Amino acid sequence: MSDFRDVKGKVAIVTGAARGIGKGIAETLASEGVHVVMADLLDLVHESCKEVNEKYPESKAYSVVLDVSDENAVKELVAGAVKKFGKLDIMANNAGMHAPTGNVWETEEKTIDRIMAVNFKGIFFGCKYAAQQMIKQKSGTIVNTGSFFGKVGHPGSATYGASKAAVHTMTQSLSQEIAEYKVNVNALCPGLAASEMHWGFVEADAKALGITFDEMKEKELEDIPLHRYGYGKDLAGAIMWLATPSGEYITGQLINVNGGLDFT
Ligand SMILES: NC(=O)c1ccc[n+]([C@@H]2O[C@H](COP(=O)([O-])OP(=O)(O)OC[C@H]3O[C@@H](n4cnc5c(N)ncnc54)[C@H](O)[C@@H]3O)[C@@H](O)[C@H]2O)c1
Repeated sequence: MSDFRDVKGKVAIVTGAARGIGKGIAETLASEGVHVVMADLLDLVHESCKEVNEKYPESKAYSVVLDVSDENAVKELVAGAVKKFGKLDIMANNAGMHAPTGNVWETEEKTIDRIMAVNFKGIFFGCKYAAQQMIKQKSGTIVNTGSFFGKVGHPGSATYGASKAAVHTMTQSLSQEIAEYKVNVNALCPGLAASEMHWGFVEADAKALGITFDEMKEKELEDIPLHRYGYGKDLAGAIMWLATPSGEYITGQLINVNGGLDFT
């Protein structure tokens, strides 16, 4: 059988996999026969992994609690996956956080440091250790979760946006450095995704406009040409493409997975 789009038997690490987009990525990859290592700051990741194993027992998923801003923990995460499965095919650096920072002139240094540590350094460390393994293998795909907010500045999101912009340019740098080893590196930019992170914004925006949570959701859905929120499965579709010969010619790109929300 052609392996043009086949991911069965591949090994993936997905960070931020306890819930939201990351959980959806892990579930979808597992449903296609990928062995998934699910990592997250929250203990909930063990429960999420149990669900994946019950649904897709052929995928030997296991879970790890870690803070992606801890370089050594990320190094061990990659080493552990390679020890168990002998290789690493897909590194999905997805863990991220947003925090209400206010305007630039109101933002505290500790908030900047934490967001940069998780969103930028966390993804950097995932790239670093996955790259070391993939260079040895001369194969693999690294997929970072970026954001529209990293392409265009938004009020109240200066730190978050800057952290994602840093992810975008780092993705491009690494893609050039590692291309000769047949490893592709890309960032996926979700639009508005159905997740705890996004519901926090919907709630705040609804409050600011004096409308209900559901009215705010309706309003947002009107702006998305495909009229639905994004899910982890949508990102997983792109990851499976990038991880197989069907997508091996794509590298260094910031790919929108956003229902047509914007064209940046
Ligand atoms: N939801 C959206 O609309 C949207 C849009 C653009 C980009 N994104 C990005 O998508 C990714 C996933 O976000 P989501 O929407 O699923 O949010 P979410 O908050 O539901 O999930 C994020 C996950 O990352 C984990 N995490 C946070 N900090 C961590 C750390 N230090 N170490 C390990 N795990 C950590 C959280 O515990 C959580 O499980 C993030 O990188 C986010 O910035 C989301």
